[in-house]
Amino acid sequence: MSDQLRPRASLRTAVVWEVLKDALERRVKATGREALDVLDTGGGTGNFAVPVARLGHRVTVVDPSPNALFALERRADEAGVADRVRGVQGDILGLFDVVERNGYDAVLCHGVLEYVDDPAEGVRNAVDALRPSGALSLLGAGLGGAVLARALAGHFTEARQALTDPDGRWGAGDPVPRRFTAGQLSALVTDAGVEVGAVHGVRVFADLVPGVLVDTEPGAMDELLRLEAAVAELPAFHSVATQLHVLGEKRA
Ligand SMILES: C[S@@+](CC[C@H](N)C(=O)[O-])C[C@H]1O[C@@H](n2cnc3c(N)ncnc32)[C@H](O)[C@@H]1O
Repeated sequence: MSDQLRPRASLRTAVVWEVLKDALERRVKATGREALDVLDTGGGTGNFAVPVARLGHRVTVVDPSPNALFALERRADEAGVADRVRGVQGDILGLFDVVERNGYDAVLCHGVLEYVDDPAEGVRNAVDALRPSGALSLLGAGLGGAVLARALAGHFTEARQALTDPDGRWGAGDPVPRRFTAGQLSALVTDAGVEVGAVHGVRVFADLVPGVLVDTEPGAMDELLRLEAAVAELPAFHSVATQLHVLGEKRA
């Protein structure tokens, strides 16, 4: 696929997808089962759920949005995995009204914690849905990335506001209700009974680079993807990432 045709969406998902795919492979080996039971809390339209189902796993998506679930159903159908994707309307804070405890080999919680009233309860529920030794994949908005982005856009007061606001918001117009540091996310999962395996910084440069450069410069997209992959695991870059990914294993 040429650089021009490569979906820019891969810049948002590539690092997390590689980490998640490896974690699922490890669960397949550990459990001896080819098809895992995967729960995607706040899975939305299936950015991750559909590719996970394409690997052969059974995916349950819990999301409060009927529109998202409708789009998910269509997408799963188009991808030929409708029989392996189940959409359920529900809330991560009332997770066990709609799914069972201790029923999943892997639980995804991507881009959800920033929107829930009680992130600690959200993480506890995600972990309680896991079988012992199950994999938790948690993705949350990073505080430092937002500070950097506001500052580079010349909004210095907002950058400082995000830095000092208890929820990491840059002002009343900020569309994201809450942001996290890597330490905060790691503490949330550790407190919920998960051993942290890896922390990755996601979209360290992707949102700061002018789109025209990536879209028109030959090879630039591939190089940027490689750069993102190279810095993702380096703790020094976690503090400026737009998102932070924590991969962990539920303590047996
Ligand atoms: C930014 S989207 C992320 C979608 C998907 N996880 C992904 O990574 O592409 C946030 C999703 O969380 C869902 N959501 C919001 N509040 C939620 C809650 N309390 N419980 C579960 N899902 C929620 C929204 O409906 C939306 O689909």
